[in-house]
Amino acid sequence: MYSPHTVQQLTERLEKPIVLVGLMGVGKSTVGRRLARRLDLPFVDSDSAIEDAAGFTAAEVFEKYGEKDFRDGERRLVARLVEGRVGVIATGGGAFVDPRTRELLNARAITIWLDASIDVLSERTARRDTRPLLRNADPRGTLKRLADERRPSYAEAHIHIRSGSGGHSEVVEAIIVALDQHLRQ
Ligand code: S3P
Repeated sequence: MYSPHTVQQLTERLEKPIVLVGLMGVGKSTVGRRLARRLDLPFVDSDSAIEDAAGFTAAEVFEKYGEKDFRDGERRLVARLVEGRVGVIATGGGAFVDPRTRELLNARAITIWLDASIDVLSERTARRDTRPLLRNADPRGTLKRLADERRPSYAEAHIHIRSGSGGHSEVVEAIIVALDQHLRQ
C-alpha cells in the first residue's frame, strides 16, 4: 500500500480528471468515492449529477424519455464534468459506449475501465432493482450481452482494472498503482 505522502505526490502530478467506466454493478460509484477520498480529490457521480439537473433519478429519466434522450443528456453532462476541476468521476455504464463521449473522455481525462466477471456483476446488481436495463426476466443474460457488446468500447480506456470478489479497497489500491505507472509513461 502506498504511503499517504506518495499518494499525495501522485495527486499533485494529476493534470486531468480520473473517469471510471464499466458495466453496471462493477462498483464505479463506491470505488470512485473511495479513490477520491484516498487522493483527496472531489468526487462526482454522473448519474447523481443527472438527477440533480433533471429533478428525477437517472432511471426515471431513462424510462420517461427513452434511452436516446438519456444518452444525449448524459453526453452533455459528462462533457461539462470533465471541464471542471481535477477530480474523480464515476460514469453510468453506457456513457463510454457512446463514440463521442468516449473520444472526449479519452482526450480530456484519464479513463479507467473497471471490469468484473458476470457472476460478480449479476450478484451485485441483483441487490437493488434500480437499473431500467435489468428490469426484465433475464438480467444475467442482459449483463452478458451488454458485456460482449461493450467490451471493445471499454477496452479503449487508458487503464484496465479487474475487480474480483475481493473488497473495493483492493481495487482502489490497484488503481493507485496503475495511475502511478500511467503517469510515468
Ligand atoms: C446504464 C447504467 C446505469 C445508468 C442507466 C444506464 C447502462 O448506471 O446510467 O441505467 O447503460 O449501463 P450504472 O452503471 O451506474 O448502474
